[in-house]
Amino acid sequence: MSKFDRIYPFTTEFISGYMKHLNVGGKSVLTVGSSGDQAYNAFLYGANNVTLFDINPNAKAFVDKKSDILFDSKCIRDFYYAVVESSDFSYIDGEVFSCKSLRLMNDYMRDEDAFKHLQKRMVVNEVEGIVGDVFKMDDTLKGRVFDVINLSNVLQYYQPKSMDKTVIRRELLELFNMFIGHLKDNGTIMLSYIYGGQELNEFISLYDVLVSLEKEKYQLEGVHTSDGDLALMYQKR
Ligand SMILES: C[S@@+](CC[C@H](N)C(=O)[O-])C[C@H]1O[C@@H](n2cnc3c(N)ncnc32)[C@H](O)[C@@H]1O
Repeated sequence: MSKFDRIYPFTTEFISGYMKHLNVGGKSVLTVGSSGDQAYNAFLYGANNVTLFDINPNAKAFVDKKSDILFDSKCIRDFYYAVVESSDFSYIDGEVFSCKSLRLMNDYMRDEDAFKHLQKRMVVNEVEGIVGDVFKMDDTLKGRVFDVINLSNVLQYYQPKSMDKTVIRRELLELFNMFIGHLKDNGTIMLSYIYGGQELNEFISLYDVLVSLEKEKYQLEGVHTSDGDLALMYQKR
């Protein structure tokens, strides 16, 4: 059982800290599936359609189950405990934040009005699910393009083929070019959520990403969320 056979019941990111910068209103959104919270916040902010892209074959089924719980919940607390206590899926250990924290991290859990607004939005919307590897996105998405792409912190799981910085930076540039190949003009990508804002993993630092992309004149924007985390954004002009 790989790390990603299990499910994140809720986000581990301050989505509330970067969602506004993605301008999803009336747009098509591709997002890593995870807990479905990236998708829910996109619908809360008026996304037209949302496609879940995740290596975990259970991600879509979990989000469908979570949406059923969403519909049946009278309030945020009921929703939170019904999801956390559901035994339909095996959850990733130690990755469940308190309801109080999640209300700061998720705009759809901010208050009962936002929660009810999402319930209404989800009545007429459904997420499309695609099982695939972000690092082999072309294989699965072929020529599909989106207005907005949210890659969560998946880049943190990228294992470069060599420790040589020149090779790492070339690989990062190739990955980036593949990602923005699925972005429409004027589209926005949340390239990576970086916990603590510095290191993606033991091989790749924020500096590596910036050096490898800015050399090609790609202007990146860093959005600071709470807790010192950083959301790395790029708008395709
Ligand atoms: C990166 S994890 C961490 C949770 C995330 N920070 C959040 O707040 O939702 C999120 C999701 O990424 C998926 N994932 C990890 N590596 C992936 C890959 N190479 N391609 C596609 N999805 C991947 C996992 O299955 C999981 O559902």
